[in-house]
Amino acid sequence: MTDATARLDPYLEIAPIDRRIFGGFVEHLGRHIYDGIFEPGHPTADENGFRRDVIDLVRELGVSTIRYPGGNFVSGYRWEDGIGPVDERPRRLDLAWHATETNRIGLHEFQQWLDAVGSDLMLAVNLGTRGTAEALDLLEYANTIVPTAWTERRAANGHPEPFAVKMWCLGNEMDGPWQLGHRNAEDYGKLASRTAKAMRQLDPSIELVACGSSGRTMPTFGSWEREVLQHTFDDVDFISCHAYYQERDGDAQEFLTSGEDMARFIASVVATADHVAAERGSDKRIMISFDEWNVWYLDRWEAQQKQYGADEWPIAPRQLEDSYSALDAVVFGDLMITLLQHADRVRSASLAQLVNVIAPIMTEPGGPTWRQTTFFPFSLTSRLAQGRAVRVPVTAGTVPSARFGDVAAVNAVATIDNDGATLFLVNRSVSDAATVRVDLSPLGAAGLVVVEAHLLHEDDLAAANTLEDTDRVGIRRADARVTDAELTVALPPVSWAAIRLGSA
Ligand code: AHR
Repeated sequence: MTDATARLDPYLEIAPIDRRIFGGFVEHLGRHIYDGIFEPGHPTADENGFRRDVIDLVRELGVSTIRYPGGNFVSGYRWEDGIGPVDERPRRLDLAWHATETNRIGLHEFQQWLDAVGSDLMLAVNLGTRGTAEALDLLEYANTIVPTAWTERRAANGHPEPFAVKMWCLGNEMDGPWQLGHRNAEDYGKLASRTAKAMRQLDPSIELVACGSSGRTMPTFGSWEREVLQHTFDDVDFISCHAYYQERDGDAQEFLTSGEDMARFIASVVATADHVAAERGSDKRIMISFDEWNVWYLDRWEAQQKQYGADEWPIAPRQLEDSYSALDAVVFGDLMITLLQHADRVRSASLAQLVNVIAPIMTEPGGPTWRQTTFFPFSLTSRLAQGRAVRVPVTAGTVPSARFGDVAAVNAVATIDNDGATLFLVNRSVSDAATVRVDLSPLGAAGLVVVEAHLLHEDDLAAANTLEDTDRVGIRRADARVTDAELTVALPPVSWAAIRLGSA
């Protein structure tokens, strides 16, 4: 048993929370779109063919901004294939995922779906097989009001008013050798700078994201960010981070320190961006768009992925359909705590991905949809983390990590808004329960009570929600109470909690 003490002090403010950190990511990949969000024959399908049961869950998840249409897919994508009469749209080969893309869903249909789920669009342009001209065409089509050939075409396609897309990604993972059109940092940096300048000439109000590394273990990590920002510093607002975590060799304890990895990743990218600012004598601060993050059993998928013959290009095959355990969800909850702890520099983040593909929401064709374990920490954090993020210093024991040495066993962050405060906590220990006593007196805590207390914990760390048992894992009531301006929370080993405090 670990005894931990903590303090919730409004003066330890990190930053106001940008709601865009509760973003998601939808890629044309596997059954994400086709047989996922779009299934015209499904009993719950709306007039556009979108599953209402999925729409309801995405709304419940609370996703702010959704990055689209990729991912690796975007680096071979021709966005014009997805507009105009559906039966005239070309079929194309998607080289990134070795599939056939029917283009049944494109920009207009995706916007219809976003309207239904209540999220904003974040678009990525193809800087793999295409370049500045095509990015400008898409921006003009999406955002321009004045009559031009592109905007008249948009109106003819049923959308006279602009889509008004605010955030734009300049390509995807251009450092990765697997990426179509992969480039070195200098070539990408120059292309991204040219494209950003041209896009801003057309629409100065947009916000632009340059590609950072596709992971912090990439051999060029660090030098990639430095060089890309040396070319694009004046042109972009964000640099991207991507990180996926998985349990390796059955070592749950090591896996539970993934939040520490994410924190170090963010610190390195911030330091690199600020180094480039210092070189230029600039006070500008480049923000982080953590636009791909999740638990992903990438090794398992690479080992098991079906090899298709040269003439086999399936439509919407089952790809990357990870099933998430209670352990995965606790790590996931810690990753969300880590994002909030860096709310001063992480101003946008996208959970990769949303439906069927490494997703919190699963569907079966003609059948049910269900919440994976990771659904719960996301929906609770998105709903309860309001106002400003506040650092919560915790004094507790440590857990061992082969990579990081001793790591804090209990990690926490809080948010404070006009109606109260929420504390998010994780116990990373596989063996020890923790009792956390939080001093609320700096809040002027007279009258504060626990109004919601949520716990994610299963004795069976492998427990998961599946088609056969869709509700096996859920949220329990946490053991939390306030006495004399002190909050006490009991955290079993491997658990995540969200405690909402408000007036009685
Ligand atoms: O999210 C799955 C893939 O992971 C994305 O397409 C790519 O950007 C990343 O490597």
